[in-house]
Amino acid sequence: MYQVIARKYRPQSFDDILNQDHIKTTLRNAIAQNRIAHGYIFSGQRGTGKTTTARIIALCLNCEKGPTDKPCGVCASCIEIAAGGAVDVIEIDAASNRGINEMRELRENVRYQPARDRYKIFIIDEAHQITNEAFNALLKTIEEPPEWAVFILCTTESHKIPATIASRCQHFSFRSVDFHDLIGRMRQICTSEGVETDDETLAVLAQSGEGSVRDSLSALDQAIACCGNKLDAAQVRALLGAFGIDAMAQVTTALSAQDGGSMLALVGELERNGGSPQHFSRELSRYIRNLLVTKISGEDSRLVTASPAEKKELARIAGSFGEEDLTRYLQLSLDLFRDLQFSMQPRFHLEIGLLKMIQAGKLVPIEEALANLGSEPRAATPASAASRAASPVSAAPAPPRPSPFAAAQARPAPIASPPPPQSRPAAPAQVYAGPPSANDDWREKLQSGMLKAGLQFSADAMGQASAALVNNELLIAAPKQFQLDLGREEILAALKQIGHPTLRFKVVFGEVNPAAAAPAPRQVPKPVAQDESTGRALGHPEVQRFRELFGGEVRNVRNLKES
Ligand SMILES: Nc1ncnc2c1ncn2[C@@H]1O[C@H](COP(=O)(O)OP(=O)(O)O)[C@@H](O)[C@H]1O
Ligand SMILES: [Mg+2]
Ligand SMILES: [Zn+2]
Repeated sequence: MYQVIARKYRPQSFDDILNQDHIKTTLRNAIAQNRIAHGYIFSGQRGTGKTTTARIIALCLNCEKGPTDKPCGVCASCIEIAAGGAVDVIEIDAASNRGINEMRELRENVRYQPARDRYKIFIIDEAHQITNEAFNALLKTIEEPPEWAVFILCTTESHKIPATIASRCQHFSFRSVDFHDLIGRMRQICTSEGVETDDETLAVLAQSGEGSVRDSLSALDQAIACCGNKLDAAQVRALLGAFGIDAMAQVTTALSAQDGGSMLALVGELERNGGSPQHFSRELSRYIRNLLVTKISGEDSRLVTASPAEKKELARIAGSFGEEDLTRYLQLSLDLFRDLQFSMQPRFHLEIGLLKMIQAGKLVPIEEALANLGSEPRAATPASAASRAASPVSAAPAPPRPSPFAAAQARPAPIASPPPPQSRPAAPAQVYAGPPSANDDWREKLQSGMLKAGLQFSADAMGQASAALVNNELLIAAPKQFQLDLGREEILAALKQIGHPTLRFKVVFGEVNPAAAAPAPRQVPKPVAQDESTGRALGHPEVQRFRELFGGEVRNVRNLKES
């Protein structure tokens, strides 16, 4: 009968277990000194060797030649335990036996001596699933166990084990297995299975398990079933839905070029190939994270799980970005991943998320930005190029105009300054909701505004759309059929209702293509007091460039000469 690789190659001795050295040493010593505890908690990610280690303890304790840290593997006990059929090794899956009755049964069982072997070993898997009453029923037994009983509670969520139980057990936490050690193990397995493979393929398989040996070995099974005795990286990637660096590099290339169009084309291609936006965004975060780590720790960092060829490529790509850029992209990609978990419109979310990254642009060092401010209007900085390329709304830079105070005074006075704390707050004509925040749920806000404005259909349509604030501009994406319900009028009405009457916004429908999307007029936030000098100050090219570079709004304009 065919046995899956993970089971066929389940370690039968401490030596076979990868990593977890701290656990192996402690347990070996305990067995050698005959200081076996009655209760153990094994916690850690799935597929890292908890059940395996529990079974090895059973082998060590019950081997006819034991207790020993090197079970013989040939005696009746060893053979039965390895096959999972020993009467004195009781495995309980707490996911399905979690109630008080099961624990009472167990308590009864503990009282009787082992049938044949030295110890009775209870391995309780998924122990965090046990109910509270059931834990209480167990408590007494774990507190004063008969000399032959050993409990091993395995769990992925050790914090859910009640303190009363935990304090009576020794706790070991299993770490996720080292990438290179795992690759080494898989290489051995492939050799003994007669399967031909290479480093890159093994790296793909090892990565796919995300630290779980079992998952990586299952992926290996799957790959062999699909590709036969010769594994090929591209084929395996396709099988596992993994994205190679080449695929991911398209994103960074589009980021470098500030090219929204090719970013959207990428999403289109993903959808045509049946790829999942969620999966893609997770891979994207991983990719950007790897770029960032490579940037910080260098090409040879062990923190990046990739084959040598991939690491080289990562280093090359990371070279064209700054650390701050990558940090921002990583944050945005994680936001995107989080949003996608709940999204009804994953495609739009993915599109808007990738466009946001472009709009975040590359940072211009502040010195350069300030230096540029004093000079004549010049070619766009990458940051302003970013916002212009990606948002059709942004107007072309205004032509240079005379100094706003030229008429009033010879030398330009310092103009816009943030309001001093004691100055009177802005008193706009309408209820002004304060500066807009990117953390708000803008879809909900707009919906409520539309309801207030009596726009029921628009509010319904908004429920199917997504909205996010990027660089003080509201980006709204909606399916095509809502074009009529989500017109400019409707959104303006909603914004008015929620106290952001002058917020800039842009709506894209269906196939999102920023070049084709109808430009909405740029809306300048209304200044506080619309007197003449304010108008001139806001119209001044330097002020406009300041706002282009740094975003934000001008709240207050004071003419220093007058005050
Ligand atoms: N540390 C490890 N070293 C070697 N193989 C491991 C390790 N952890 C898991 N495995 C492999 O994964 C399979 C499942 O491991 P298991 O011990 O059941 O994981 P869990 O931590 O979820 O209980 C094992 O049969 C074994 O092949
Ligand atoms: Mg297990
Ligand atoms: Zn034995």
